[in-house]
Amino acid sequence: MSNQSSNQMWGGRFASGPDAIMEAINASIGFDQRLAPQDIAGSRAHAAMLAATGIVECSDAEQMRKGLLTILSEIEAGNFEFSAALEDIHMNVESRLTDIIGPVAGRLHTARSRNDQVATDFRLWVRDQCDAVEAGLTALMRALLGQAEAGADWVMPGFTHLQTAQPVTWGHHMMAYVEMFARDRSRFQDARARMNECPLGAAALAGTGFAIDRDMTAHALGFDRPMANSLDAVSDRDFALEFLGASSICAMHLSRLAEELVIWSSAQFRFVMLSDRFSTGSSIMPQKKNPDAAELIRAKIGRIVGANIALLTVMKGLPLAYSKDMQEDKEQVFDAADTLMLALAAMEGMVRDMTANRPALAAAAASGFSTATDLADWLVRELGLPFREAHHVTGSLVARAEALECDLPDLSLAEMQAVHGQITTAVYSVLGVENSVASRRSYGGTAPDQVRRQVARWKDLLV
Ligand code: ARG
Repeated sequence: MSNQSSNQMWGGRFASGPDAIMEAINASIGFDQRLAPQDIAGSRAHAAMLAATGIVECSDAEQMRKGLLTILSEIEAGNFEFSAALEDIHMNVESRLTDIIGPVAGRLHTARSRNDQVATDFRLWVRDQCDAVEAGLTALMRALLGQAEAGADWVMPGFTHLQTAQPVTWGHHMMAYVEMFARDRSRFQDARARMNECPLGAAALAGTGFAIDRDMTAHALGFDRPMANSLDAVSDRDFALEFLGASSICAMHLSRLAEELVIWSSAQFRFVMLSDRFSTGSSIMPQKKNPDAAELIRAKIGRIVGANIALLTVMKGLPLAYSKDMQEDKEQVFDAADTLMLALAAMEGMVRDMTANRPALAAAAASGFSTATDLADWLVRELGLPFREAHHVTGSLVARAEALECDLPDLSLAEMQAVHGQITTAVYSVLGVENSVASRRSYGGTAPDQVRRQVARWKDLLV
């Protein structure tokens, strides 16, 4: 834009303004305008502290406070003209403050730098996102709990290697995701607690000669304490990386659930019906109902992990303290946070609305010799066979059933006894899927009463 006159905020030693390309690569206002509320909150805290410590006149600070509030309402109303010539949100706000209150605005930047300013603003923004993600995760956990409670005793096949393994309950499968998302929630809570220290007052890198009160600004902004090392305060972006790391793991969990929904909603599985509100049609194939939201959630992890790696790569090898490289932090985190929030909301809606196909789940649970382990366990318990031998006997029975194209419970007693003479009719009781799941009562097991215990525990924890 302006390459005749030098920058009004820092152009004292410059004879001319920047080249247009320089301005284009340098300006961050196109994206960091999202930090406006945090920037204004930080400036208000700083102004109040400058007045309380006698560094600026109280009447000046009062003008700053009013002017900053005016700017906030202008931005909120969409009446603020952001200027690329003013580079970033910090200088856009300060320049507008000068328009409104005159040269006294120039006192606001006493004892601070854009380096501690941006570190503070960004921490505040990421801190808010941790809270938003936590709320999104809680809503998703509630939707999963609703499914688990309704289907605590609905049998379905449990898989390993995506091959039928042992019967489990629908509720148990849903609760597995509750546990995963609960760990995600605690990762965001941990990150939030660790990031809750205030960089403001670190100034450019070395602290300041003014007698500032860093506890005052830290507490005004809801931080637990000021950061203890000024070099670290302006050069640290661990908080953003922790947010991206927690987001990456959470996105990985979402992609696993999304993948299951894609598989389960297929005509081959028919385990779930997605609601019309969370599926789409095909423009050519009239019969189709596609799980697009699940597919997109499955894919979104790419952007989030990409952001994580991008920021790690930006930060790698940067010497202390601030370097302009660090301006590349924001777009990655903004995009990852927006993406994660959208994916969480879409998953919550899909899970809340979906209908499990209980008969299809039950039919699938009973196929694929899913109770073979129960049979082997019965041979151990009732006939005293060593487990390895029981495994072998059961394998022979499975082979026999396969040859006869039937399931294990369809084998006659004579067929069974041909493989092991001591087998009795009592064996049939363990070949039923309902009995199989009901027997798995060990803590954390799939038995419906265990699932109900976990549902009750989580319902208490989520109130
Ligand atoms: N827009 C900059 C950023 O996001 C603000 C800090 C600029 N500091 C500086 N010394 N140029 O990183």
